[in-house]
Amino acid sequence: MRRLASRPAYRTDRSAAAYAAAQRVVAGGINSGARGPRAGWVPGPPVVHHGRGPRIWDVDGNEYVDYLLALGPLIHGHAHPALIGAVEAAMSEIGTMFALPYELEAAAAERIVAAVPSAELVRFGNSGTEVVLHAVRLARAVTGRPRILRFEGHYHGWADQVEWSHPPPLEAAGPRSEPRPVPGSPGIPAALAETLFVLPWNDPEAVDRLFARRGGEIAAVLTEPVMGNTGVIPPQPGYLEALRDITRRHDALLIFDEVITGFRVAYGGAQTLYGVTPDLTTLAKALGGGYPVAALAGRRDLMEPIAEGEVLHAGTYNANTIAVAAAKASTELLARPGTYEALFALAERLTSGIGGIFERAGIPVQVQGVGPMFQFWFAEQPIVDYRGAAAHLNSPRFAALARALHARGVLVHPSNIELWFVSTAHTAADIDETLAAFDDAVAASRAELGGRG
Ligand SMILES: Cc1ncc(COP(=O)(O)O)c(C=O)c1O
Repeated sequence: MRRLASRPAYRTDRSAAAYAAAQRVVAGGINSGARGPRAGWVPGPPVVHHGRGPRIWDVDGNEYVDYLLALGPLIHGHAHPALIGAVEAAMSEIGTMFALPYELEAAAAERIVAAVPSAELVRFGNSGTEVVLHAVRLARAVTGRPRILRFEGHYHGWADQVEWSHPPPLEAAGPRSEPRPVPGSPGIPAALAETLFVLPWNDPEAVDRLFARRGGEIAAVLTEPVMGNTGVIPPQPGYLEALRDITRRHDALLIFDEVITGFRVAYGGAQTLYGVTPDLTTLAKALGGGYPVAALAGRRDLMEPIAEGEVLHAGTYNANTIAVAAAKASTELLARPGTYEALFALAERLTSGIGGIFERAGIPVQVQGVGPMFQFWFAEQPIVDYRGAAAHLNSPRFAALARALHARGVLVHPSNIELWFVSTAHTAADIDETLAAFDDAVAASRAELGGRG
């Protein structure tokens, strides 16, 4: 393993000052809950100066290999010249928005239709939250049924209709056989619990039982096809197929929320990787490679009520030229031969290296992931659902190791509810540098981590 190059001392005073200054005008100094102390960035997050390729520099001058990757979108790394070029050209040659159609929209939509098996028609939006909301509205409209079945530990955006049971305190979540939906924030109307069912994931019998009793009320099953919001929990073999089969038998829709997995675990998303085609798909993150764009895609007959204007899908900023140019350019880069083989090989180099470091240290972990999205748990057995993960979430051991990694130039989210991402900008040398830092961080965190020696 490569030795750790000597580094300048890790300093955080300028970040602390900039973060404190921001708090005078920005609520909490951050613009999303995932970026502050409550989410694990204690005492405060590093304040970024700039990012390039697979790296970030903060205002103290610390340099990091970035595995946070803005929580997933940056599949090409930071400031990719092809994306900047495409967006700049769109802005200067076309303009930014018109509230009218323009030709580039269809060119970008065609790429999604060609890539994603369930996508026959597409509507663009600006964020994952928005397109999930449109998906559940459409599902209720076409089935005439009121409820959505979703799963504990999944995240589908911050909106009242879907921000439930992520992550539910176990004391509030009810029995495993019949979980209670738990709102994710004060201010979410309790009455919306009546529009949902919640179950543990990866348990096809539980879904079967619920449909047998209440199937006539369920418009759709909404699921991440790989659970990427409680670390990473892959689907058990046959689980996605079972969801497909049960929803079909009960005339309910299957919605894959591929906001994380779309264009990340395969060009056509998790539905390509696992060979299970949902009825509707939501896409964001890697689709735009770091620009705010999202898409709702689905079967032609299901999307028809939106096409006809019967079901409302709207938004002033939908399909602005920045979003559309980014989606087109991002997917063009991703379509290049060998992209996913290279991403998976890099991720494998990193995850097997991490597994080896823990093994040599005598620290039991479960490294779980699908190619370039992964996380590890300080657990003896694989984690298959939220209830199994709950005891290991927000682990102080993980947070201590994350802090040691930050000080050694590796950027990861300090909570293991989040995950590691690998981009096409990372190289084998970046991974080896990361593993050397990881080895050193584990050695330096022995007291917090336990294990041998
Ligand atoms: C699976 C999933 N769905 C939806 C969302 C919400 O997307 P956005 O943050 O773009 O609103 C996220 C965000 O992380 C997500 O992971």
